[in-house]
Amino acid sequence: MVSVAILGAAGGIGQPLSLLMKLNAGVTKLHLYDIVNVPGVAADISHVATNAEVQSFLGAGQLAAAVTKIDLAIIPAGVPRKPGMTRDDLFKINAGIVKTLVEAIAAHSPQAFIAVISNPVNSTVPIAAEVLKAKGVFDPRRLFGVTTLDVVRASRFARDLRPGVDAAALRVPVVGGHSGTTIVPLLSLASTRLGLSDEETEELTTRIQFGGDEVVKAKDGAGSATLSMAYAGARFADSLIRAINGDAVVEPAFIALAADPDGAKEVRGLGAGDLDYFAVPVELGPRGVQRIAQLGGAPTAFERKAIAVAAEALAANIKTGAAFVAGA
Ligand code: NAI
Repeated sequence: MVSVAILGAAGGIGQPLSLLMKLNAGVTKLHLYDIVNVPGVAADISHVATNAEVQSFLGAGQLAAAVTKIDLAIIPAGVPRKPGMTRDDLFKINAGIVKTLVEAIAAHSPQAFIAVISNPVNSTVPIAAEVLKAKGVFDPRRLFGVTTLDVVRASRFARDLRPGVDAAALRVPVVGGHSGTTIVPLLSLASTRLGLSDEETEELTTRIQFGGDEVVKAKDGAGSATLSMAYAGARFADSLIRAINGDAVVEPAFIALAADPDGAKEVRGLGAGDLDYFAVPVELGPRGVQRIAQLGGAPTAFERKAIAVAAEALAANIKTGAAFVAGA
């Protein structure tokens, strides 16, 4: 039985994500926090006939109450991309928002799991970690950057190429980070053999890396992925809730590699070098990251090259996040 706070609950992701969490039978309390419009969202969702109790928290004055006695905080607060923007362009605004929200969680529910959706995830997760470290409550097993949408896209886009594949069952490990070329799908290690040619592998890899742009372009100034992200966020949260309740669950996430020093050695061997954070499939348990999951094989030369490219960009993203907290 889990208490969940959604911070940024009135937004494009926040609203459908709040609804999906209201439908999750593992959730007993649902705290919805935003700086605008959240009373209406909460009143609306509170009528759905499930047992979770919904409470609304509006504005900075109610942030502390929103994150008190919670087990899981999900953070989709912040601005989304418009056409022509990269996720890194969002840094200036979202960095400060994530920092403030994590400070409040550190003060009022230091043991809570934190799932960061706000972009750029490659930098907002290091921000969250530095805030938690400064408050003396950092546990790398409990902090996650949500990269589930990359995995969801990999499964769905693979089916576009191989219509026989069950998109809901297919699992493609996606490693690295969560923006452009830092997203590295390991298609050769998919749970179902896809039998892709080199050309298909390259094409599908690029589509997964830049899949978010398809949505940004189609929305034409009205934002980025919200509905598929809410689905992905709810799937990740459900995995965490099942893990809290004792199930063994594997989900990908962008984590601090300190969460599993042995697993980290293997990840570094893949080409992650001395990076402190990396997206990897993770075995979740009641305390969060139990261990980094085995990939089930060695990546191909193409994939290793993509990991090297990702690692270089990631190093800069991680540094930017950590420096923001140090200098702020
Ligand atoms: P949105 O603009 O529709 O909603 C954001 C919400 O955050 C708004 O309701 C706003 O009032 C709220 N907010 C702003 N400042 C806040 C603060 N200080 N405290 C609490 N709430 C605050 O944006 P959308 O589309 O929901 O996207 C949210 C974030 O999620 C963006 O940063 C976007 O880039 C990111 N995103 C991440 C994905 C991922 O795979 N991790 C995928 C898609 C989007």
